[in-house]
Amino acid sequence: MAQEVRGVIAPGKNEPVRVETIVVPDPGPGEAVVKVQACGVCHTDLHYKQGGISDDFPFLLGHEAAGIVESVGEGVTDVAPGDFVILNWRAVCGNCRACLRGRPQYCFNTHNAKQKMTLASTGQELSPALGIGAFADKTLVAAGQCTKVDPTVSPAVAGLLGCGVMAGIGAAINTGNVGRGDTVAVIGCGGVGDAAIAGARLAGAARIIAVDIDDRKLEKARSMGATHTVNSKTSDAVEAIRELTGGFGADVVIEAVGRPETYKQAFYGRDLAGTVVLVGVPTPEMKLELPLLDVFGRGGSLKSSWYGDCLPSRDFPMLIDLHQQGRLDLGAFVTETVQLDEVEKAFERMHGGDVLRSVVVL
Ligand code: APR
Ligand code: ZN
Ligand code: ZN
Repeated sequence: MAQEVRGVIAPGKNEPVRVETIVVPDPGPGEAVVKVQACGVCHTDLHYKQGGISDDFPFLLGHEAAGIVESVGEGVTDVAPGDFVILNWRAVCGNCRACLRGRPQYCFNTHNAKQKMTLASTGQELSPALGIGAFADKTLVAAGQCTKVDPTVSPAVAGLLGCGVMAGIGAAINTGNVGRGDTVAVIGCGGVGDAAIAGARLAGAARIIAVDIDDRKLEKARSMGATHTVNSKTSDAVEAIRELTGGFGADVVIEAVGRPETYKQAFYGRDLAGTVVLVGVPTPEMKLELPLLDVFGRGGSLKSSWYGDCLPSRDFPMLIDLHQQGRLDLGAFVTETVQLDEVEKAFERMHGGDVLRSVVVL
């Protein structure tokens, strides 16, 4: 039986989001219905609302979620009703060229639910944000989007791994391959940058240099594991990074802002053989200009990190385990918990600079 539940809808470009009654169908083959327990508010949800990602309104927002599997469709064996899961927006196929070549992070055929959730009032089909749509009491996803983790962890904490925090940690441990003794600089210390700092600490980095234009962010970055901080409004980021790395530049520089000027700082702030990881998301009109000779004259690598190059089934349980052991404080990313009807307010607070994550709890 299809069910009617509450969901947060972005009805049209830049219109305020609102709670509506939505219809969630029974899971079809390969699908699962999940009772959402918590879902973080991410910049990408705001971008959907602003029409910056697609024109496919109305959207059912929310995509950083954890909850309990309520029911599964035909052929689903990896998860069962009652399982506590984190949702992911990249359920890989296992069969495409990328998957077969051992690079599932670049899978071409990621799975989403085939059936559509709809608006109860009009029957209109909803576009779930990143194929998830979890600002809702229940949501329909592909079973492969569900990763089972230790059920004793707090849902508000677990859900964060579904997007931003995973992107940051993964930028350090997966894409950047930070190793023991490395020097790491992280430019931009919001939720993603702080997660990159936490990831660099886990990986055993010797020095972790946090760069931001806001002293409050730098203070928080220290509590996440930064060993040094640079305010790039008052001092030159590249010079400061060089000074703190014996003149060489950092082994890994993680750019977590998504702007040409901070990318340039990352480019020039790395060691000659170092790695630049771009995890901040630029806008379509942004352009980068660099002397080609400077690109030629440096070895190392320039990488981008999409979803922290994560493999949910490998990374989510491992990171939850580290959190449970007290070796990774995922709770530090939760600034506040809010109700389903407070998402619009949470968007407003996102820009104040005081919030790493608002998490909707259900
Ligand atoms: N130099 C250094 N830091 C900057 C600069 C700059 N020129 N401009 C902004 N920042 C800092 C802000 O002060 C803030 O601490 O970057 C941080 C951005 O943090 P958030 O706005 O909280 O964004 P976050 O969620 O961390 O995401 C960062 O990663 O995944 C992407 O889409 C996401 O592009 C975004 C980026
Ligand atoms: Zn694939
Ligand atoms: Zn997100």
